[in-house]
Amino acid sequence: MTENKKLNIGLIGFGVVGEGIYNVLQQTPTLNATIKKICIKHASKKRNAPQELFTTNVESLLDDDSINVIVELIDDADAAYKIVTTALRNKKHVVSANKKMIAAHLQELLMLQKENEVSLLYEAAVCGSIPVIRNLEEYYDNDLLNSFSGIVNGSTNFILTKMKEEGLSYENALKQAQQLGFAESNPALDVEGKDAVNKLTIVLQHAYGITTKPETIVHKGITQLHRSDTKYAAEKNYNIKLVANARRIDDDKIVAFVLPTFVESKNQLYHIRNEFNGVLIGSKLADEQFLYGKGAGRYPTSSAVLSDIAALRYDYKYEYKKTKSNAHKYQLSNDFLLKIFVSFNQDAEINVSFFDSIEDRYFNKNRNHLVGFISLNNLQKADWFNDETVSVIAFDGDDNKISTNTFLHETILN
Ligand code: HSE
Repeated sequence: MTENKKLNIGLIGFGVVGEGIYNVLQQTPTLNATIKKICIKHASKKRNAPQELFTTNVESLLDDDSINVIVELIDDADAAYKIVTTALRNKKHVVSANKKMIAAHLQELLMLQKENEVSLLYEAAVCGSIPVIRNLEEYYDNDLLNSFSGIVNGSTNFILTKMKEEGLSYENALKQAQQLGFAESNPALDVEGKDAVNKLTIVLQHAYGITTKPETIVHKGITQLHRSDTKYAAEKNYNIKLVANARRIDDDKIVAFVLPTFVESKNQLYHIRNEFNGVLIGSKLADEQFLYGKGAGRYPTSSAVLSDIAALRYDYKYEYKKTKSNAHKYQLSNDFLLKIFVSFNQDAEINVSFFDSIEDRYFNKNRNHLVGFISLNNLQKADWFNDETVSVIAFDGDDNKISTNTFLHETILN
C-alpha cells in the first residue's frame, strides 16, 4: 500500500467499539478510509447507520476484492479467529481489538502475516487508548526494558475504585462497569484476571520477543478479595490494584505474573482510578517512565483502532524485531521470590511448606492471614492458590522491587 492509498474497510461488529469507529470515521474524511460494508449478527436490531451498509454474511466482506482492510471488532474470540485468519490468507490487512484471540494464537498470526505479506495491527487490544504496543515495539527497540508493570484492565480498576471510594458492593460496581461498556460480555474474563493475562501475553511478545500462551503465566483476579484485605490495605495506606508484571531478572530471564497487589502511594499506579489504565516502564537508561490513559470504553478504544487504520496508509506493520533478533533471547522463568499476603477462613488449610519464609502470622476468629516470601514456581503449585476462599495479594514495595529498576540500571551506570 502506498501512502494515502484509499482504504476500503469491511467492518465486522457494530457493538460499543464498532459503532464508535463508524462515527469517528464519518467525522474524519481526511483519512481517506471508507466503510464499504458492516457485518453484524442480528439483522433485526435497529442501527445508527444506513441500512444498506449492513449484512450478516461475513464471507461477502472476506471475499470482496475491493475491500483491502478488515476491522474486526467482535467479542467472540473463536469467530474472530476464523475471520482474522481468513482475512490474512485473503491478503487483507486486519485491525483487531480481540486480545483473547490474539493472545491465544500469536504464533500462527505472526506466521500468517509473514506468509501473506499483510499487516495485523491490534493497538486497542492492550490498555485501550494508550499506545503501548507501538511504544514497546518501536521506542524500546534499542533500549533494554527492565520492567513493565501496569494496570491493564479498566473494569477491575473501576470496581476496586468504586468499592473503596464510594463503598459500593462488588456486585453493584461490576454492574456499573458492564452498563458503561467497560466489561467484557463475559465479565469473568475481567474479574478473574484472564483479560489482564491475555494483554500481558501480547506485551511479552512486543517487549521481549517471547511467544507464550496466557495459561502459562501465574495469575489471579479480584473475585476472592475479602473485606478484611481491604481493611488491612487501609491500615497500611495501600491501594489494592490488579497489576500485570513483566520484569527482567537476569540477562536472559523474564518473570511475568498478574496478581492483586498492595500498591504504595509513592507508586504512580496507586493513583490510577476508575477505568483508567497505567503502565510503569523501567528502562535501562531512561529510568522510570509512566504511561496513563483510558483503558476501556467506546471512544478510547476507537482512538487506538483509528490510529491503526491510519497507520495502514503508510504500510505500517509490526516487525516483531525482538522476536526475530538474535541479540537477546529471553525465556520466561518462575524462579523469582515474591512477597505475598495470604488471607483465609478459619477452616482453610494453608500448607506453609510452599513458603520460603514467613514474616507475619495473624490469627483471628473471622479471618487469618500470613505474610511471607514464596517463589512463583511454588505459588503456582500451591493447592490453595486457586481456592476461591483464599486471597493472595502481592506487595509492591522495596521488598519485591516490582516496579523499580533492576540491577542492570546500576550496572550500566557504575
Ligand atoms: N474489559 C476490558 C477492560 C476492555 O475492562 O479493560 C478493554 O480491553
